[in-house]
Amino acid sequence: MVLVVCLVALVVIASFLGLVSFRNGRRSCNSKDKGKLPLPPGSMGWPYIGETLQLYSQEPNLFFTSKQTRYGEIFKTHILGYPSVMLASPEAARFVLVTQAHLFKPTYPKSKERLIGPSALFFHQGGYHSRLRKHVQSSLSPEVIQSKVNEVEAILLSTLDSWDGSRVINTFQEMKKFSFEVGILAVFGNLENHYREELKKNYCLVDRGYNCFPWNIPGSRYRKALLARRDLDRIIGEIISERKEKRFNEKNLLGCLLDSSDGKGEILTDAQIADNIIGVLFAAQDTTASVMTWVIKYLHDNPKLLEAVKAEQEAILRSNCEGFQPLSWSQTRAMPITHRVVKETLRMATIISFTYREAVADVEYKGYLIPKGWKVLPLFRNIHHSPDYFADPDNFDPTRFEVSPKPYTFMPFGNGVHCCPGNELAKLEILTLIHHLVTKFRWEVVGSQNGTQYSPFPVPQDGLPARFWKLSP
Ligand code: HEM
Repeated sequence: MVLVVCLVALVVIASFLGLVSFRNGRRSCNSKDKGKLPLPPGSMGWPYIGETLQLYSQEPNLFFTSKQTRYGEIFKTHILGYPSVMLASPEAARFVLVTQAHLFKPTYPKSKERLIGPSALFFHQGGYHSRLRKHVQSSLSPEVIQSKVNEVEAILLSTLDSWDGSRVINTFQEMKKFSFEVGILAVFGNLENHYREELKKNYCLVDRGYNCFPWNIPGSRYRKALLARRDLDRIIGEIISERKEKRFNEKNLLGCLLDSSDGKGEILTDAQIADNIIGVLFAAQDTTASVMTWVIKYLHDNPKLLEAVKAEQEAILRSNCEGFQPLSWSQTRAMPITHRVVKETLRMATIISFTYREAVADVEYKGYLIPKGWKVLPLFRNIHHSPDYFADPDNFDPTRFEVSPKPYTFMPFGNGVHCCPGNELAKLEILTLIHHLVTKFRWEVVGSQNGTQYSPFPVPQDGLPARFWKLSP
């Protein structure tokens, strides 16, 4: 009993001290000059829980937008257990992600790091990160992606094959199947079916546990995900041993990672390779699937635009002998209307609403102190939806991309050292989908047409249930 009382007292005192120091708007720090700087405006909410409840009791985007309206482009808060600074201007995003990127390290909850694997590149910075990034980037370069156009198209066609209007499809789940198979292609190239099935089964369990409360107790989703993650290590280990024996130079992520000598004879371990394979599969699947689901919704909701995209794609189909010839890389580059639809979808949906960094030192920004250890969140969504950079920002209007956006105002794939190395592959998937969808199908959304769900990326309500009918040739 005494112990409990002491603990409660300690918690109260600690919270009080924490509250006082936050409310003062100042914080002691090592650097004399920076110590005098004020913290950004904003509120830190309650001790420990901060403003986490406010964040989760409404649409997250409303939370960020209302804060920005109240405090301006830089404000402090306390969410998910951490004091945080949020930044909602292109200039600030450039500062954190590009010019002063060395002062901000990537940061993820430990429970999530355990599931993906601690050696995955997006948890790191510095030498290890740049060494890994070189390999990941070379496996996803435009030259490599060009050589995969036909395979991506074949995966898409087999996904679309079962869509015949007789059943309602959860569009997001179908898009996830497609993006997962493309992820497998990018990582392994050709892969035997039994490996593919085992990977899929275990990866699904990891995926399901990723956003659950990290309770490592028997029967919990998180525990199941951890066990599945261990099995993934075993399966990937077997694939690695086979590939090492064959030893031919493959243009896929595994090939590049196996060939990872850094010039000093240092080779990546199998565990490091496995973490990065899971990391890339993870980064590739829901992101791309979510954007493709939004594209389908926006085209559905804008019939005139759909007609224009259809006309552009039908011209390509005709030049490919009515589809008897496959789509080529150069054709995917020459679809101006469709490209603008993709950009506008990326802006409107902004499926990565913000990214997370942590200040590795006390940092001064625009006269404010960002204290060492605080989380720092550049808010992509606020920038993409600001009327200062995009007129009538909540209106879906691809023509706005007839003119290039100003620097650092459009960052669907991030920016700087951690920007998305998979963006060319993602765009290829989206363009290929649009080509086949608009030339071969008509579709109707079923049920509630509006609303957004977070999975954790924003996705149309219920994954956009829809019926797709094949058009007769
Ligand atoms: C439309 C789909 C996609 C979107 C919107 C997207 C967006 C992003 C963003 C915003 C970042 C930067 C995160 C940060 O700065 O913290 C990122 C990083 C990353 N993305 Fe993507 N991504 C997509 C698809 C893909 C695909 C298809 C792959 C792989 C095949 C991929 C692999 C990665 C990796 C490995 C990173 C981490 C890079 C690093 O830390 O150096 N992404 N992505």
